[in-house]
Amino acid sequence: MATVQVHASKNYQIHIENGLLDRIGSLSAELLQCRNVALVTDETVDVLYADRVEKSLLAAGFAVHKLVLPAGEETKCLARFGEVLEFFAECRLTRTDAAFALGGGVIGDLTGFACAVYLRGIRYVQIPTTLLAAVDSSVGGKTAIDLQAGKNLAGAFHQPAAVFCDPETLQTLPCETFSDGCAEVIKYAVLDGEPLVSLLADRANADWCNIIYECVKIKKRMVEEDEFDTGVRMFLNLGHTVGHAIEKNSYFAITHGKAVAIGMVIAARLSEKLGLCDASLTESLTELLHAYGLPTESPYAMEDLIAGMLSDKKRKGNTLHLILPQKMGKCTIYETDVEVLHRLFE
Ligand SMILES: NC(=O)c1ccc[n+]([C@@H]2O[C@H](COP(=O)([O-])OP(=O)(O)OC[C@H]3O[C@@H](n4cnc5c(N)ncnc54)[C@H](O)[C@@H]3O)[C@@H](O)[C@H]2O)c1
Ligand SMILES: [Zn+2]
Repeated sequence: MATVQVHASKNYQIHIENGLLDRIGSLSAELLQCRNVALVTDETVDVLYADRVEKSLLAAGFAVHKLVLPAGEETKCLARFGEVLEFFAECRLTRTDAAFALGGGVIGDLTGFACAVYLRGIRYVQIPTTLLAAVDSSVGGKTAIDLQAGKNLAGAFHQPAAVFCDPETLQTLPCETFSDGCAEVIKYAVLDGEPLVSLLADRANADWCNIIYECVKIKKRMVEEDEFDTGVRMFLNLGHTVGHAIEKNSYFAITHGKAVAIGMVIAARLSEKLGLCDASLTESLTELLHAYGLPTESPYAMEDLIAGMLSDKKRKGNTLHLILPQKMGKCTIYETDVEVLHRLFE
């Protein structure tokens, strides 16, 4: 079993191993030392994996209360958030009890946020079942729901008590959802270079346990240095400022991963224009993204995207902070304003 230790406001371990779903009960019993637990999942993941997790928890002596929600981003809303809280209360979870979030980023973010506020905070365990959740959303303690005005507008920092990742669960992901996660993996490769770049070189023989392990180690380092996202964690935004604008422009028809893939290529081209990297970086990035089923060309003109970038919630004042790649393993923060961007992309 590969284990990564995170030292943040709370210390916790991330375990990665094929077949881990069946051992979650025994591994959690000593850690949590409670009896009542909630198991929150979505309808798709419920059918595939909830029985195994539930069985494992029951065998370890937990009383399990399962809540199954519809699959999809719409579930990350205020109404479902209320439903989760009411469910915790109905199950009489106390401050020493805990919840398990079994699923992708939607279930993780929603359950995590509910645990951040229920009784002013109870513990939760992440069991990521998408590649995005495994390498990104399950680690770092950012929890949130969406509001009418936009995504992730209400949330809290609340670190999990543990993360149990079973990479075998990724085998049932639809191709497109898997590719979306690959965009985040490739983002880590651009940010950190080796060994991830080599691990990704041969897709047919990719060792996903190891790839997830390397990604999680990178995220762990950033979270430890900047738990509350005011500094280096900003680098994780590579491809995202432009990516969010692409998602918005498409009314979310272009998925997050695809948009981030295109956003990274645009960042590389901008970096080229500024003389911060040479064309070979854009070429190898494009090649890598294609190998993992991701697009690299924006269907929108830069003009339209700049407008979208201005409404990004991570923007400070009138300036934009873009993460630009210089070479595989090295990126820089580039501060710019709209005028300059317009000129660069003329
Ligand atoms: N908290 C953070 O730091 C952070 C970081 C990145 C993204 N996010 C959030 O994560 C969310 C996206 O997460 P996601 O991409 O995992 O989406 P998701 O949770 O909606 O999962 C995608 C789809 O895959 C299905 N699914 C999940 N696991 C499966 C499996 N093993 N086999 C088959 N189907 C499976 C789900 O039912 C769903 O339909 C967004 O809301 C985003 O804001 C949070
Ligand atoms: Zn992302």
